[in-house]
Amino acid sequence: MGTSYKRKAAYVTIGAAVVLLFRSIYGFYYVPKSLRHLPCVGYRELAYSIMKREDAATRARSVLGQAIKEKNGAFVAKFPMEWTVFLTSPRTIQAVLLKSDKFPKTYDMFHALGESSPFVKFLGIKNVGFSNGDDWKRQRKVMNPAFQRSVPVEMFGKLMQKGILAIEKQGYEVRALDFFERITLDSIGIFLFSFDFGSLDNPNSVWSLTYDTIRRGIKNPALTVFPQLDCLLKYVTPGRRHLDQCVTKLNNLLMEVAKEKRRQVQSPSDKLIPDSEKDLLTLILEAELRGDGSASDEELRGNLALFFLAGHETTASAMCFCLYNLAMNKDIQEKARKEVLEVLGDEPVDVRPDIQDLKQFRYMDMILHENLRRFGPAAMLLPRKSEEDFVADGILIPKNTPVVIDLNTMHHNPQVWKDPEIFDPERFAPGGEYEANGEKMAWLPFSSGSRVCIGKSFSMAEQRVFLSMLLKKYEWDFPDDSIHRDGIKMENFENNAPESLSFRFHPRY
Ligand code: HEM
Repeated sequence: MGTSYKRKAAYVTIGAAVVLLFRSIYGFYYVPKSLRHLPCVGYRELAYSIMKREDAATRARSVLGQAIKEKNGAFVAKFPMEWTVFLTSPRTIQAVLLKSDKFPKTYDMFHALGESSPFVKFLGIKNVGFSNGDDWKRQRKVMNPAFQRSVPVEMFGKLMQKGILAIEKQGYEVRALDFFERITLDSIGIFLFSFDFGSLDNPNSVWSLTYDTIRRGIKNPALTVFPQLDCLLKYVTPGRRHLDQCVTKLNNLLMEVAKEKRRQVQSPSDKLIPDSEKDLLTLILEAELRGDGSASDEELRGNLALFFLAGHETTASAMCFCLYNLAMNKDIQEKARKEVLEVLGDEPVDVRPDIQDLKQFRYMDMILHENLRRFGPAAMLLPRKSEEDFVADGILIPKNTPVVIDLNTMHHNPQVWKDPEIFDPERFAPGGEYEANGEKMAWLPFSSGSRVCIGKSFSMAEQRVFLSMLLKKYEWDFPDDSIHRDGIKMENFENNAPESLSFRFHPRY
């Protein structure tokens, strides 16, 4: 009797497990009724493309090619965890971005990762990039004035002079991502809280190594596809424990900096320092003292972490791709150099451009725009969720549906851009393709609307300074053994520049 009871119980358990398994597999193929009006892209294809580290352009052509032709570029996919609407056309995207209060960012990913994940521990969920509603408004208000003051063009120029020395030291053959990540990390540290990581001078400095461990550790593609894995990883991978230690160490430093700055701005000596010499954190805290918004110490710490992550790799990657595009297109490199020499002169000395010089680099701006279209570092915006039924350019997005604005697919959507794979700065010339097609939202590497990137002017100025100084000083091409000579070989799914991309610089003086 006892044995047959046990056997029955075992059958029931196995049966239940099989049903649950089938239900969860079926869940990946069964599109909810409310979303069946949109074409569906399979989970397997999308996950495979990401795990294979396929770049966004290839994905737009292969996996998404048919789906984005149909309903104004909108499609659905169960990805990463829920059925989500992906938008890839300027008008549907515009409709959503202009109503950002109806599409708050979701916390589903953070919940899936769990509070103990290094990603959540480092960035928190209360920073300006992740929060919504009044929490977001309060923080953004306190930051806006600090970001709106003039950008630190002189500091960028001084860092590139150091960069030029570093290129010489490395024998003129340079691993681009490593170089630009170091220079942009030093730049963001000085800009944020007058902290020199010194990574250009010393790549092994303690803080740059600590930060490097964190940013690499939290960008694991497997966690994008299966965020729930994180709670297992901490028990099985030794590197994960080191990562936790690094997060704690840098968090403590950032918290200490936030508290110390708060003490400084309240002291009388702060009033003696001119605004132009103050770092961003000081300006934020002063705005708070004036009553323009507020941020707690933990929010400040999370924001500093976010600024590092959002503000250094993005620009570094954009610069690498820019140099790549100019190495592939020598005529465009030469035309850009001609413009730079007209503004900065052709004497055999390094010149640091000032803000007036930057305004004259019109052709360079077209290059930077096209580069960000072709290889925008933010492949997608963070997921949002619709608060009510919403119609975006004729496409119904039902209430409570996760929505992803897929920037890179839009930038490579042949319905939006002619021959999207071709690098052609003339698209952004007056009267060129971009102006002529009248779709303002077809170019959105920094997003748009109230949640537009707060560091856009900072990054664009930084790119103009770095590129102009490099164009004046060097011509560049690929080393003979480069694997990128016949087209870029991407190494990651986020559209970041490949680590193996190197350039050979030829000094002009
Ligand atoms: C090429 C360089 C950059 C690109 C392509 C870029 C792109 C973006 C994009 C697309 C967003 C919108 C994200 C979303 O809504 O889901 C964003 C937001 C943000 N970016 Fe950037 N970014 C760049 C540089 C920077 C820099 C230099 C900083 C800081 C110094 C920065 C700080 C931020 C912050 C704080 C937000 C959140 C703004 C908010 O939600 O109010 N970014 N960025």
